[in-house]
Amino acid sequence: GAPVELDLTPIAEGQIVKLFWRGNLIFVRHRTAEEIQAARSAPLTALRDPQPDEARTKEGKAQWLVVYGNCTHLGCVPLGQQGEYKGWFCPCHGSIFDTSGRVRGGPAPINLPVPPYTFTSDTAIRIG
Ligand code: FES
Repeated sequence: GAPVELDLTPIAEGQIVKLFWRGNLIFVRHRTAEEIQAARSAPLTALRDPQPDEARTKEGKAQWLVVYGNCTHLGCVPLGQQGEYKGWFCPCHGSIFDTSGRVRGGPAPINLPVPPYTFTSDTAIRIG
């Protein structure tokens, strides 16, 4: 599949945009300062699939989180800004994800994966 280009300028802080890349649902989330802080202050020992938020985002671009949009349990689409950590909540069996897309509860075994992407300018990314 071809790479997908996305202009980030219309995405307001606090907003999540959905798109498809190679047939996969992708979430692009413009995180608030509070959401970044929550993601970065979580102790790795509290995580089922320990990954620092810094490893899931690009340096200097902490406000942007790009993750696959299907629950890592059985593939439902989690709901944004919901659940205990206000990341995502999966309505199918109750998996909870934080503002880094990391699993924090429920049956999901691993974090929402980060697809390959790069910033092509200060305000645009290319996925793939
Ligand atoms: Fe999300 Fe089961 S598919 S918790």
